[in-house]
Amino acid sequence: MKIAVSGKGGAGKSTVSAQLVRYFTLNELPVFAVDADPDANLGLILGLDPEKIEKLEPLIELQDVIEAKNAGGGTLVDLNPNVDDVLENYTLHEGPLRILKMGSVKGGGSSCYCKENSFLNAVLTTMLLDRDEGVVLDMSAGIEHLTRGTARGVDMMLVVVEPTRPGVSTAKAVDRLAADLEIGRVYFVGNKIRSDQDRAYLESQLPPERFAGMIPFSEQVLEKARRGENLVGTRDDFLPGLDKIFEMASGR
Ligand SMILES: Nc1ncnc2c1ncn2[C@@H]1O[C@H](COP(=O)(O)OP(=O)(O)OP(=O)(O)O)[C@@H](O)[C@H]1O
Ligand SMILES: [Mg+2]
Repeated sequence: MKIAVSGKGGAGKSTVSAQLVRYFTLNELPVFAVDADPDANLGLILGLDPEKIEKLEPLIELQDVIEAKNAGGGTLVDLNPNVDDVLENYTLHEGPLRILKMGSVKGGGSSCYCKENSFLNAVLTTMLLDRDEGVVLDMSAGIEHLTRGTARGVDMMLVVVEPTRPGVSTAKAVDRLAADLEIGRVYFVGNKIRSDQDRAYLESQLPPERFAGMIPFSEQVLEKARRGENLVGTRDDFLPGLDKIFEMASGR
């Protein structure tokens, strides 16, 4: 099961991603947790060792590996190099969990970053289309790591949205990007819901039938974030609504 999570900055993408990752691991299901947000902090929210997380190199910065994978390429970039070894050697392991950082897709300016970008694409293709492990992609609102090709492997995209006008407007923009990539199942997840009014607001702005869930505002989550504590240690830590989202993602 491959789930992508997007939404406006601060909406709760990493919080929701971390909870989904824990859903896999508490059920002993192997999963790749992919930190694809340039402002990467998924590992910390998952409670992994901060030093190890800090040392984990973003894939886009693995110059030597990228060169080797494109060996002999010249102007011809190998579009589908085998990257299973990368998923082995440049990820942090913790039981059934492997976490990796993507780093920002490079673009613009005068330089060509074709090799870097095609390398990231190969890694995503392998995880999303070739391998059996679950995948949780913690993305930015730009979803720029996905292409039409890799999006085919995404079973469900969740767009996390706070009950504010900027939140809704970003959610709509992400929804359009996802439609361009032809991602079939795109659902909204209301987050930090404090009242019926918040819920009603979101349902008036976005199609109610496209909500996979509404997650309440939680003092506990915020307090843990302030202290930098592990968000999900046990099942009791799951936010209400997450189980339903997980079941929807798995097609149950
Ligand atoms: N349901 C919730 N209740 C209370 N606080 C929440 C909830 N969800 C997220 N938060 C808090 O909101 C802040 C932003 O959440 P998070 O880091 O998950 O968002 P994000 O979308 O990944 O942000 P960024 O764009 O910076 O990566 C964090 O401090 C988090 O603890
Ligand atoms: Mg985040």
